[in-house]
Amino acid sequence: MSPNEVDKWFELQSLQSFQFCYPRYLQAKAPIDKKAFHKDTWDHMSTLVNSLSKKTIRLLDVGAGIGSMFLHLLEGQVLNKFSSIEYVLIDSNVENWLFAIDWLISEIKQRFPHYSILQKMPVEEILSTDRFHTTQTIEYLSVDPRNSVHVDQGKSEGLSEKNCLELQLSSEVQNIFLRFYCGDIVHFSQLTHFRGYFDVVIAAAFLDLYDCSSMIETLFNLLQNSGIFYFPINYDGEMSFSPKGSEQPMESQVTKAYHAVMDGIESNEQSQHSQSGQCVLRICKDRAIDMKHGDAWWNVGCEDPKSKYFLMCILRFIKDSTKHLVKGPVLDSYFFLREQQLNQNVLRYFAKNMDCCGKVHFNWFTAI
Ligand SMILES: C[S@@+](CC[C@H](N)C(=O)[O-])C[C@H]1O[C@@H](n2cnc3c(N)ncnc32)[C@H](O)[C@@H]1O
Repeated sequence: MSPNEVDKWFELQSLQSFQFCYPRYLQAKAPIDKKAFHKDTWDHMSTLVNSLSKKTIRLLDVGAGIGSMFLHLLEGQVLNKFSSIEYVLIDSNVENWLFAIDWLISEIKQRFPHYSILQKMPVEEILSTDRFHTTQTIEYLSVDPRNSVHVDQGKSEGLSEKNCLELQLSSEVQNIFLRFYCGDIVHFSQLTHFRGYFDVVIAAAFLDLYDCSSMIETLFNLLQNSGIFYFPINYDGEMSFSPKGSEQPMESQVTKAYHAVMDGIESNEQSQHSQSGQCVLRICKDRAIDMKHGDAWWNVGCEDPKSKYFLMCILRFIKDSTKHLVKGPVLDSYFFLREQQLNQNVLRYFAKNMDCCGKVHFNWFTAI
């Protein structure tokens, strides 16, 4: 996939023919996140990582999507000092998982040509296996990173290296073993050999999908004592579009409905997904975890075809999830206006996210 091909795909997108494609959405999101990351929190993460006095580091990237965070870390030279890196990614979405390997290979070749790349098993070979014709989600993980490939005899379904894509990146001074699992993080965390395994756990734009409190506990259990967590881009309850004008009262209604849907008003789930940044803060404060945090604003206009596609996705998420709550002409005229602004390349979107980073000492369990 050359940069030209990528750009062409985005250039061909329009609201009239819009189709949501998860990996392309994540591809468009990557540069927006990069601009948004709270700098002090990013620097804190980098300092903590570089204060580890070991040559080999183990990182877990949860809900890794197409692997953008790995590229941000390489670009930010955060992992330079380690001669051996085990970078484990996990995502439950098959489409993202399959897209990731080709994308990562092509990005690494273009942006980090000093690495030679070895791919353990081609994607085509994995796709040609039976299970991908019969099932969408792979539920169990079978590869124990401590002992190469390992099949869990207890679970007959999907227990092979076929749910793990592997790359080895080698430079003169560094070996990176990248393992990308397709599976659910909760299943993953229940595998005892991963408990307390990682030096660093990263979850970007992930915690707002779940009940923060129990998911954070799940993730912390995967860390070694004094392990580092980096949780950037947790949606934090504020968004708006510009230009601002007569549509403001409609926008308030739509935003309120969108937050209500996120918070599970219809399912009586009563979560606080629309306030997940504050939730992460509160949970860490309650547990006396020392951490850095700060706002990470998405500020997106129509400056290029990728940003424009991202805006199309956001408008469509909001429209589809609120259409049954905000009835009739209000919603129609609001979205008509915003879509017109998008077509005229004058639409901008702002959303507040929260980034958090810190260290977890085992006694956090007792500090509650
Ligand atoms: C908003 S995306 C963020 C992706 C990536 N971290 C990024 O920032 O580009 C959330 C990702 O979490 C994945 N996901 C959701 N639930 C998951 C679960 N239970 N286990 C693993 N991945 C999950 C989704 O498939 C999706 O790729």
